[in-house]
Amino acid sequence: MASTWCEPPAKAGGILIRGLGKIFDGSHRVEALSAVDLAVRQGEFLCIVGPSGCGKTTLLRILAGLEQPTAGSVEFEIQRDGRPLQSMVFQEQGVFPWLTVLDNAAFGLTVRGVPRRERERIVRGYLTKLGLGPFARAYPRQLSGGMRQRVNLARAFANDPAILLMDEPLASLDEQTRMLVQEDLLRLWEGSAKTVIFITHSLDEAIVLGDRVAVMSHRPGRIKAVYDISLPRPRNALELRNNPDFIAARTRVWDALREEVLSANAAIEADHG
Ligand SMILES: Nc1ncnc2c1ncn2[C@@H]1O[C@H](COP(=O)(O)OP(=O)(O)O)[C@@H](O)[C@H]1O
Ligand SMILES: [Mg+2]
Repeated sequence: MASTWCEPPAKAGGILIRGLGKIFDGSHRVEALSAVDLAVRQGEFLCIVGPSGCGKTTLLRILAGLEQPTAGSVEFEIQRDGRPLQSMVFQEQGVFPWLTVLDNAAFGLTVRGVPRRERERIVRGYLTKLGLGPFARAYPRQLSGGMRQRVNLARAFANDPAILLMDEPLASLDEQTRMLVQEDLLRLWEGSAKTVIFITHSLDEAIVLGDRVAVMSHRPGRIKAVYDISLPRPRNALELRNNPDFIAARTRVWDALREEVLSANAAIEADHG
């Protein structure tokens, strides 16, 4: 069922995005976002799907403070207790090739001036949970793609932000590896009380991970609909895919997404036709 997306956050705190717009005024004027309204609840795992170029990355960069909106507002009502507000996890360039796994995972803590011992204690805990314990002194080039993305996750969680902003972090992984890393991400997130906004172009991934899935329209992006994914947790990425409720959810969300992908493709063809 599509819920309304303008409702106030259910619990105290959350992120309230109102009338957000972004126009890039370069040699080419691009309206990337228009009137984006979205209330993200504190502690929820919210996935965003939408056609390529609809402004997903732009929205995330605005939430990260890396980009200024040209309209609207973002309010954070997150209790922080001295933690960083948000950190962003990218698909590419996530790990520094010149740093060991340990130093990569400790990067945020190092920047924050956390003493070395404390840093190592925290980071080793995450590396162990992710099966990377024996690779603490290895360099990224010695790791598989899946392991590198786990280093990314370790860094994100070790830094302990209230909000994790994830921009297609698993997109470069093959399907099998991706399912395993999805499970690792879920295990880390469950019990972390972190608010996650996770962008993906994979509908299956959105439904496996999310408490809710928001569908964005084609450019200029806005939130077209938000779906509750009420599948029980803890979730198993592989088993879930055969669950009838999963399949029903996917069909429902795809109906909304399909139109947007078709419109986006038609716009591209018109541009080039
Ligand atoms: N810095 C920028 N300058 C000009 N246009 C940009 C810039 N960043 C993104 N865009 C444009 O804004 C639109 C949305 O981009 P983006 O947010 O990356 O979409 P998505 O992540 O959904 O694929 C695209 O048309 C893109 O070319
Ligand atoms: Mg993007």
